[in-house]
Amino acid sequence: MCGTDSKLGEMRALILVGGYGTRLRPLTLSRPKPLVEFANKPMLLHQMEALVEAGVTQIVLAVSYRAEQMEQELSDEAKKLGVSLVFSHETEPLGTAGPLALAKDILGASDEPFFVLNSDIICEFPFKDMVAFHRNHGQEGTIVVTKVEEPSKYGVVVYGEQGRIHSFIEKPQEFVSNKINAGMYIFSPSVLRRIQLRPTSIEKEVFPDMACEGQLYAMELQGFWMDVGQPRDFLTGCQSIDMQLYSAEGLG
Ligand code: GTP
Repeated sequence: MCGTDSKLGEMRALILVGGYGTRLRPLTLSRPKPLVEFANKPMLLHQMEALVEAGVTQIVLAVSYRAEQMEQELSDEAKKLGVSLVFSHETEPLGTAGPLALAKDILGASDEPFFVLNSDIICEFPFKDMVAFHRNHGQEGTIVVTKVEEPSKYGVVVYGEQGRIHSFIEKPQEFVSNKINAGMYIFSPSVLRRIQLRPTSIEKEVFPDMACEGQLYAMELQGFWMDVGQPRDFLTGCQSIDMQLYSAEGLG
């Protein structure tokens, strides 16, 4: 987890919370996935706390489903954290990129880069490192990548020595690399001009063009990471979280 010594400038983040969470049934039959409790608190709260600790002052929740339940449960938490929470409602699910277009007035309100997160990842959130890495390469986007043992069920990212991304291979059948998209991004506001207000996949429709133009870099995550969006991984994550995180600085 990030240290507490220095805060970033005024930054914003968008968390994608509009998926149906079908793979995490039955836990998602009664609660939307971001509100499913992981290590004693809603998954999403781990992310919100880490963002605030890194200096993020405004968080957009991109919702398309069970929005009321999320608003009820998270508005108080946001007040306690002292962060402004904006609910960006989709009338139809806009996928993983469309929500950025819907929230473009907020995300593009300053020249600062902004974070985008999938809601079902738990890790030692490297937000300050992401800002430093992103500023250092100076291009439009940075994707956090993590090493996994079984890359075939994820989106694999292929990149060069300096981190410049060459290509993406979704769920590869043959081994290409064990570095996968960890579901955390930081973008300069100029990325917004690439995204239209329609259902769009950021992984399939936006990243390939950015990579082709040399605008997308990979930052390697060290340490614990899990996508807890499926029952087996959710249980494994619950079992390992004590050892991995609470023993060090810990999730809050
Ligand atoms: P499954 O139904 O189990 O595949 O889960 P999911 O719907 O959450 O899909 P997935 O895990 O692939 O989604 C990745 C992230 O994008 C999650 O944080 C989802 O909440 C989010 N997401 C997926 N589709 C949409 C959408 O149409 N709108 C918004 N706002 N978020 C989405």
